[in-house]
Amino acid sequence: MKGIVLSIFLIAASIVAINASPQKSSPTASSRTSTANGPDWWKHAVFYEIYPRSFADSNGDGVGDLNGITSKLDYLQDLGVDAIWITPCFPSPQVDFGYDVSDYENIDPMYGTLADFDNLASEAKKRNIRIILDFVVNHTSDQHPWFLDSKSSRSSGHRDWYIWRDGKGPGQPPNNWVSGFGGSAWKFDPTTNQYYYHYFYAQQPDLNWRNPAVKDAMFDVTRFWYQRGVSGFRLDAVDTLFEDPNLTDNPIVRPGKNAFGDPIEKNQYNTKLPEVHDVLRGLRKIADEYDAVLIGETWTADVAELNQYYGEGNNEVQLPMDFLFTMVNKLSPAEFRKQIAEINSASGWPTFVISNHDIVRSYDRYGDGKHNDQIAKLMAALYLTLRGTPIMYYGEEIGMKTTPPTRKEEVQDPIGRTGWPKEKGRDGERTPMQWNASASAGFTTGKPWLPVPPTYKTHNVELESKDPDSVLEFYKRVLRLRHTNQALLYGSYTPTNEDNPKVLSYLRLYKDEGVVVALNMTQTPQKLSLKLKPHGFTSARKLLSTGSSAAHRSELSLPPYGIFIGELGK
Ligand code: NOJ
Repeated sequence: MKGIVLSIFLIAASIVAINASPQKSSPTASSRTSTANGPDWWKHAVFYEIYPRSFADSNGDGVGDLNGITSKLDYLQDLGVDAIWITPCFPSPQVDFGYDVSDYENIDPMYGTLADFDNLASEAKKRNIRIILDFVVNHTSDQHPWFLDSKSSRSSGHRDWYIWRDGKGPGQPPNNWVSGFGGSAWKFDPTTNQYYYHYFYAQQPDLNWRNPAVKDAMFDVTRFWYQRGVSGFRLDAVDTLFEDPNLTDNPIVRPGKNAFGDPIEKNQYNTKLPEVHDVLRGLRKIADEYDAVLIGETWTADVAELNQYYGEGNNEVQLPMDFLFTMVNKLSPAEFRKQIAEINSASGWPTFVISNHDIVRSYDRYGDGKHNDQIAKLMAALYLTLRGTPIMYYGEEIGMKTTPPTRKEEVQDPIGRTGWPKEKGRDGERTPMQWNASASAGFTTGKPWLPVPPTYKTHNVELESKDPDSVLEFYKRVLRLRHTNQALLYGSYTPTNEDNPKVLSYLRLYKDEGVVVALNMTQTPQKLSLKLKPHGFTSARKLLSTGSSAAHRSELSLPPYGIFIGELGK
């Protein structure tokens, strides 16, 4: 599934090193959140993505909600989270589970009310947790009043807010563009005898960003939420904002069909048009007025493309996600080294994710079926100690497993139905959060909207909180370290022992302090003589490790999948 889902987004995307500037006030060990303050707060914050349907259900309807999230804020604070990104919770027909918005300035009754949102925001603030919302910029729902008006007549006030065109001929869409979610990207509407364009589902018509009124209305949406206390947005599908006005056909890249039975196109004329950067600069200008952050859903082919999203002089998205990191799909020190070096050469601050609601969970991508918990800790130790901002995905911290549907009839995600069995959709990575070992994993008292994976008995928050060796306790320890250690906060990324094919190791160096991270990516014990002298250090002293990992001066021994994080000494 992952390959196909990823390729959908890759198709959608057509396929100076800077030093972390230290904040003015240094963090103290006792005030974790002081590291995530000031205008660059997002550089030192840990973000946590919540899929609201699946996080916590407060009213027993089987679907998570905002009050559910509020009830778990203590958990998130204790875990070490500074900001939560909530995927769309606005009114929506839920065809794409919220990514089809019918009102940008309200809350879907399924998730609660604006008052519930305000309560969540104020409770989060008390705990120094910021709120990031998901801004679906490319399209609305076909039930949004703008679209309902737009489709009502060719002369309606909102006609030009969407992309309407005549067909090439009877029954023929305007060009060959295919939707990322299957079928033609054009839908005929008999009311006005024209086609409208939708990059995603037909129920998600694309907005016409060439119309200044669209821009103004959408920019105002961000002001509305900033004024309600939101600290930023994750920008959905930014690549798809503009299309070639001449509607040039996309080239077919190779013969054959994709999972949806469509020709395999390069999205040359309907993604990544340069105009997107004007919009991003505009959004950033407003964000800056509120010290807010913009996170980009940026599927890029390489770092050069990623750099475009940072913008010249970093005037676009502060945190464009580096999805190439998620594509290192094996425990390969060499491949990780390469990708980490690349992102450290980018023109902006790195952003790391290992899982999200569109891709197979990291637990399954890296797990070997035998050492999955150890490997989950290994991955945590990796992306939470790198130079850059990590975005966690709910459930990753307890080792949640991807659990795809086994029968087509069970599938909730529409692409899983149209693409079955090649594309099973994204239900597997969106299953309910596993809070405890009681019925429905403590997620709901009702019938959960997606089945709870059987692993909830062994992998849940309650159980793991009591087990010092659990994945959860490891996450908490790394996050504590990350928030308090100067070198991890502000240090350079300096690879070491780069010729070692089995252990990935690097230093984080800041002023005269240093930390080493060594990760055994194999199932056999490893020894490593750290090359510290060139950096003015001679030894490493353990800060955090797993199993029997140990250091004797600069000599490390690591058990299978062992982790060693140590402070460097002269
Ligand atoms: C990207 C989102 O992450 C995905 O879940 C959604 O289906 C598409 N954009 C369309 O909004």
